[in-house]
Amino acid sequence: MARTLITGGLVITAADELHADVLVDGGRVVALATHGSHGWTADRVIDAAQKYVVPGGVDAHTHMEMPFGGTFASDTFETGTRAAAWGGTTTIVDFAIQSKGGSLGEGLDAWHEKADGRCAVDYAFHMIMSDVHESSLREMDSLVSAGVSSFKLFTAYPGVFFSDDGQILRAMQRAASNGGLVMAHAENGLAIDVLVEQALARGERDPRHHGEVRKALLEAEATHRVIKLSQVAGAPLYVVHVSAREAVAELARARHEGLPVFGETCPQYLFLSTENLAEPGFEGAKYVCSTPLRPKEHQEALWRGLRTNELQVVSTDHCPFCFKGQKELGRADFSKIPNGLPGVETRMDLLHQAVVEGRISRRRWIEIACATPARMFGLYPKKGTIAPGADADIVIYDPHAEQTLSAATHHMNVDYSPYEGRQITGRVETVLLRGAPVIDGRVYVGNAGDGAYVPRGICQYLD
Ligand code: URP
Ligand code: ZN
Ligand code: ZN
Ligand code: ZN
Repeated sequence: MARTLITGGLVITAADELHADVLVDGGRVVALATHGSHGWTADRVIDAAQKYVVPGGVDAHTHMEMPFGGTFASDTFETGTRAAAWGGTTTIVDFAIQSKGGSLGEGLDAWHEKADGRCAVDYAFHMIMSDVHESSLREMDSLVSAGVSSFKLFTAYPGVFFSDDGQILRAMQRAASNGGLVMAHAENGLAIDVLVEQALARGERDPRHHGEVRKALLEAEATHRVIKLSQVAGAPLYVVHVSAREAVAELARARHEGLPVFGETCPQYLFLSTENLAEPGFEGAKYVCSTPLRPKEHQEALWRGLRTNELQVVSTDHCPFCFKGQKELGRADFSKIPNGLPGVETRMDLLHQAVVEGRISRRRWIEIACATPARMFGLYPKKGTIAPGADADIVIYDPHAEQTLSAATHHMNVDYSPYEGRQITGRVETVLLRGAPVIDGRVYVGNAGDGAYVPRGICQYLD
């Protein structure tokens, strides 16, 4: 396998910023040294002068081809992981789904069937548990041993993914004994369904009502409840797609008590708001996801949470549905709009823009987008850093390039961009996946199937 030398760049990890050359051999980082201090030779030399050399992004929350509301998320593993590569993300953790009446193993097999041999970047799985009973609880142990060490449970979506508090407690107790990590979608789905029914009865049918019925208070209430359940179980907890400042406050309180409780937010909650949901002419449907976008004031609480480590991870919840034909399913009724936004390609750039704007440091950018998701989900230090022994998943990032986000130029298989027209300073130039280029000077040179399945260890973020 080719030796590659990356020279003259600024290497940024969660821990350090170093002007260093990076030597890659056999798909791994083998050494870092001061520029010019060594006599290394290589088959290929990449000049990274004036560029950043950063770990490939780890997106711990995607839904390729996810069935939802009678349709499927529009990115396949092939198109979605190619878009990930374009955006500097080299590992995704997608959600396999246990169907009602089915086993966890069957769900996992079905997701391998969709993904294996098709991915452009490396991939791993979490498991969505939608049917918690004796045998699925037992199965959790074998999944943890086999590298699927995290389980998403829902207090939302009654009749679909919903679990009651007893089921969630049982799954947490099992996780406490087998090293698994419970991930919670925390919204009070039963209360939300009442508010949906009442809104529709009043004739409120537009997309903006999606945000109104899925109240911040009901996110906070469910967040509080899953925190207490995890405390009773003695299990760690990871709350996904946090959007309400009241939910951040619940996480902060728990962390100040010393509980192993973690939170993730997503770029859409940091950069978009209910103003987008209220866009006229059904345009608001483009921004329907759950948890929903919130009024602008919530954004500041999320940024503060990211700076103070009340929130630890930014992943995308990438779950795209085309405006034409998919989002349109809810033209007459907001509750029929498939939930989810595209984002796997734009996460690293949007967070770099936050660096440019002084909201987070460069090291924090890499920490929340690469290192912590890798540690949280048992992928570190293979993924998430640039260090001897790590996989050579490396992005050469041009921090000075200007770009405009647009559906006309993105690579995700979706007919709109939630960030249409947004100016970003910074752009991915070259991406190595285990030492091999997949993006080379803004040209895609990879293949479906370059991405390998990565079995994960248990959560390493408890220290
Ligand atoms: O709206 C969303 N988030 N769709 C994906 C499914 C989920 O709950 O994460
Ligand atoms: Zn420099
Ligand atoms: Zn969710
Ligand atoms: Zn999701």
